[in-house]
Amino acid sequence: MANQATKTATLSIEGEADAIELPVYQGAEGPDVIDVGNLTSKGYFTYDPGFVSTAACDSEITYIDGDNGVLLHRGYPIEQLAEQSDYLELCYLLLNGELPDRTQRDGFVDIIKNHTMVHEQLRHFFNGFRRDAHPMAIMCGVTGALSAFYHDSLDIDDASHRKVTAHRLIAKMPTLAAMSYKYSQGLPFIYPRNDLSYAENFLHMMFATPCEDYVVSPTIARAMDRIFLLHADHEQNASTSTVRLAGSTGANPFACIAAGIAALWGPSHGGANEAVLNMLDQIGSVDNIDKYIKKAKDKDDPFRIMGFGHRVYKNYDPRAKVMQETCREVLAELGVEDNPTLQMAQRLEQIALEDEYFVEKRLYPNVDFYSGIILKAIGIPVEMFTVIFATGRTPGWIAHWNEMISGPYKIGRPRQLYKGAGARDYVPVDNR
Ligand code: SDX
Repeated sequence: MANQATKTATLSIEGEADAIELPVYQGAEGPDVIDVGNLTSKGYFTYDPGFVSTAACDSEITYIDGDNGVLLHRGYPIEQLAEQSDYLELCYLLLNGELPDRTQRDGFVDIIKNHTMVHEQLRHFFNGFRRDAHPMAIMCGVTGALSAFYHDSLDIDDASHRKVTAHRLIAKMPTLAAMSYKYSQGLPFIYPRNDLSYAENFLHMMFATPCEDYVVSPTIARAMDRIFLLHADHEQNASTSTVRLAGSTGANPFACIAAGIAALWGPSHGGANEAVLNMLDQIGSVDNIDKYIKKAKDKDDPFRIMGFGHRVYKNYDPRAKVMQETCREVLAELGVEDNPTLQMAQRLEQIALEDEYFVEKRLYPNVDFYSGIILKAIGIPVEMFTVIFATGRTPGWIAHWNEMISGPYKIGRPRQLYKGAGARDYVPVDNR
């Protein structure tokens, strides 16, 4: 539905006779937006590196109020979803816009369960990778390769194709993730089982072997499900915006999700959970925390407290609070409450939150600060952390892709402030 202007912004530019009138739209929540689309016809571009103040699309999926630490998925607060819902129900909500009734919920769970296997030929893709390849490199490759197997459902204008693709991606990502782990360990792949829940199945594929099954602890399975749930979607973050931009060219959804995985890999984004554990290892002891806090505040030092700060949250990331509670539950279940890594993280958080640098810049723990400690306690290696993030974020990516593709959209094509050489004639090499 086209946006209706609720008011007008008037832009007057020095040296221009006429002011430029720009429509202002109001959303259901959050700041109003100024539509600058017709600025080009007036001879101007907007300029906003990093898209700090730019809304790139309309969306009804997720709302974040960064100042107040609010995260809503289709209007439901993340705290309530984490406490009362589960990951597959949230997947349904993100894709369909409403919570499922019992029949819809059971039907969705069954559909996902029956799409968890991957084509047997895909197993051979792994053999092309070194055993020590980073599992995110493998995930980028094999996820994109899924488009080589589903020619029956690549018409992005067909809603049924978009639906089955969403189901396939949500169902197969844990299988591919577990396969990338097993491959790195030189262990045989473990097939999914339909008698297990989504999180139980993932842990089974990760830790069972042909010689011995893996008995899943309900607490650990619940924690795994909650970790997927807390990562499911987060508005127009860098990887979701990558998926949207790739999708705006008409690329197939598997290729778009592979692009999202690649963007997520960076340590400033989804790679932060791995970077947090590496940072805590680097700090080594509570005694060194002050030294590293000082480094983090030094403009000339590239060191940053990983898992801290956020483009949108200028308050506590609500996911971090739930993750911290889950961390305590898991470590208590495992009988390692005095886990030195957790103790160092909690002390680092306490010192940072009391330090004026972090207070003034409104830097708080984000979703990545505690997630890695839980994953490590469960026995998942550090290099798999961002793979877990990518698996959890898949429904968000595909929901945003589907939201864009199922309505009117344009190819994304930003402009620039050009600061390079003006036109000049070519000079033959012997005359230079
Ligand atoms: C995720 O967008 C999303 O929603 C992402 C995500 C999702 O679910 O998709 O929430 C997941 O990516 C969480 C963020 C994970 N990344 C990290 O934990 C890496 C450490 N954090 C920083 O790199 C940083 O905070 C970012 C990248 C998260 C945000 O960067 P911004 O918004 O561009 O902010 P900035 O870099 O301009 O920082 C503002 C100031 C700067 O100082 P000044 O230039 O103003 O003097 O705060 C400082 C920064 O130097 N700062 C930090 C810091 N983060 C920001 N200083 C020390 N330690 C930090 N962690």
